Amino acid sequence: MASSTLKIAAIPGDGTGPEVTAEALKVLDAVSKLDGFAYDVEMLDWGGDRYLKTGEIVPEGGLDLLRSKHAVFLGAIGHPGVAPGILEKGLLLELRFKLDQYINLRPVKLLPGVETPLAGRGPKDIDFVVVRENTEDLYCGVGGYLKKGTPDEVAVQQAIYTRKGCERCIRWAFEYTRNRNSPKKTLTLVAKTNVLTFGHDLWWRTFQEVAKEYPDVKTDYNHVDACCMWMVKNPDAYDVIVTTNMFGDIITDLAGILQGGMGVAAGGNLNPDRGGVSMFEPMGGSAPKYTGQNVINPVAAINAMAMLLEHSGQPTSAAWVEKAVAHVTGTKMKSQAAGKMGHGTKEVGDLVVAALGG
Ligand code: IPM
Ligand code: MN
Repeated sequence: MASSTLKIAAIPGDGTGPEVTAEALKVLDAVSKLDGFAYDVEMLDWGGDRYLKTGEIVPEGGLDLLRSKHAVFLGAIGHPGVAPGILEKGLLLELRFKLDQYINLRPVKLLPGVETPLAGRGPKDIDFVVVRENTEDLYCGVGGYLKKGTPDEVAVQQAIYTRKGCERCIRWAFEYTRNRNSPKKTLTLVAKTNVLTFGHDLWWRTFQEVAKEYPDVKTDYNHVDACCMWMVKNPDAYDVIVTTNMFGDIITDLAGILQGGMGVAAGGNLNPDRGGVSMFEPMGGSAPKYTGQNVINPVAAINAMAMLLEHSGQPTSAAWVEKAVAHVTGTKMKSQAAGKMGHGTKEVGDLVVAALGG
């Protein structure tokens, strides 16, 4: 049945994006054969090079093309020849907003064999999830200048929070915490209610109201600054965190380093609504200085592919990929840093393929 084919758009992007995407697709191909599902991938050349040639980031009709797929895989964006912000805004944020991917899901799991900067901590201590709102807050691009370029210049950058926006994110986080069903079964709201007394008051009130629908889920609250301390001191206390877009951006980098850094951290931009298209990406940037050297770590991209499978109706394949990755980090890799893995980019992909179904 053609409709059961998993249709993926892949945007390998800039720098080392294509190299890590190739490994994620290699793993997809292998696991699809093992698990027996059909897929097709349409490769899209969006990114810095195309922009420099054509002036276009998302081409005409591009969003509709993505809407015709089940999921999007994004390698990396960021090009030394393009000013910072252009591709981020024109591609990554554009897709998050236009496809209404209102959940940014960031699993924070320390895999076996992966080094964390936290002394004395191991995989049993670091296994939590951050649910970051992904369409509002300071990211809306609402604001402006007054008297730009003069000594009296004023710049305004507005944080926008809506009831609908926070409620759908908070409700999704409660559902997720319920289904994750960890022994802690706790959802922690991270915000700054003592200072952001309008916007984060809306989040706080909404969180309390939605919590009533989930009596089986324990709730907690951290101010964002305190969260940064607790995450380092007691990462094992967290189960699921739900937070605003800007704070989520910051704390997921902190969380990312606890799980071994950008070589392993992956994320999903989810539109969980019926017919919604979600996008999965390794968290690291395009790391242009390593381009073409076969030294970049593809584990984050392969983890992103596992997330894509999990959220696109292939949970068995997702679990197989996760298990294979844990086997490879735990027994085959010297480090997660580029050039220090003890293997090349392609070889790490091959090792994951070899470990599938084992
Ligand atoms: C992330 C990134 C993006 C963000 C940038 C590249 C716009 O840092 O996905 O966390 O700020 O959301
Ligand atoms: Mn970020």
